[in-house]
Amino acid sequence: MIKNKAKSLKKTNDSVTSEVSGRQERNKTWWETLPMTYADWDSDRRIPKSKEDFMTVEKLLLNGNPFLINDFDFNKFKGKMVLEIGCGSGAASCLFAKGGADVTAVDITENAVKITKENAKQQGLKINVYQRDAEKLGFDDETFDYIFSWGVLHHSQNTIKAFRNVSRVLKKGGSGLIMVYNQNSLRYYLNGLNWLFLKGKVLSGHTLQSVQKFYTDGYYHRHFTPKELKRELEKLGLECNKISITHMGTKMVPFVPNIFRQWLKRRYGWLLVAEFTKKNQ
Ligand SMILES: C[S@@+](CC[C@H](N)C(=O)[O-])C[C@H]1O[C@@H](n2cnc3c(N)ncnc32)[C@H](O)[C@@H]1O
Repeated sequence: MIKNKAKSLKKTNDSVTSEVSGRQERNKTWWETLPMTYADWDSDRRIPKSKEDFMTVEKLLLNGNPFLINDFDFNKFKGKMVLEIGCGSGAASCLFAKGGADVTAVDITENAVKITKENAKQQGLKINVYQRDAEKLGFDDETFDYIFSWGVLHHSQNTIKAFRNVSRVLKKGGSGLIMVYNQNSLRYYLNGLNWLFLKGKVLSGHTLQSVQKFYTDGYYHRHFTPKELKRELEKLGLECNKISITHMGTKMVPFVPNIFRQWLKRRYGWLLVAEFTKKNQ
């Protein structure tokens, strides 16, 4: 999700493939090895410890994802039961908690749970944090008023199973936001074609989809078209109020005027955001 040195991505993909056999285990091991802290993948100081470190992570999350500053308000959930799925370092969960929400955060890795607990502690916030797989969330049906998941469910082995759980634990009339990767993006096609033809991966049998692993985080990274994402969520009773295309705070394409870049980000950005409401019937 961030522009980073990529050596570790490839290394982690290779070691995970060889050492772990379960399909979801590969996903889990990848993130256990490289927890999401918005630090370079190759940095040896990746784990935030002090309050200052955690405030830096918060800043990186917000600046790295302009949608969360310009189009989202963490403060409008006061008194609501909010679930964050795939909390990583806990930055978003802490923002919800600072806005007065009653927050539960889950992540598939032990490291993310540890880091999120430490983040909440350093900021003096109360958050319930559990190690859970989005595909088997384990909460009662219709528990939460709002569910938030940013850059997570496309990494799960079976994304649709995770969506099903989102629908299950969301209250009727409750709402949520899921961000996944956009297939109709410049990053998917331009980088993909570069890896496939200029870097020659086509010669070893790779496809546009399989070369994504050379430059994308996570063991799995399913991409959705806007239509496909809307269709999958609506099948599960989640009515999509809005689908937005956005991108990280990076330049995306160099040497083009900012106004054109902003247009490209809204049309062909890599992040696909679905905002939805669970139908009442
Ligand atoms: C790219 S990071 C995003 C973290 C955080 N949402 C953020 O934006 O900083 C993906 C996170 O999803 C978690 N994750 C991946 N698959 C998961 C699953 N099936 N269930 C729960 N968490 C999962 C990973 O452990 C990792 O912390």
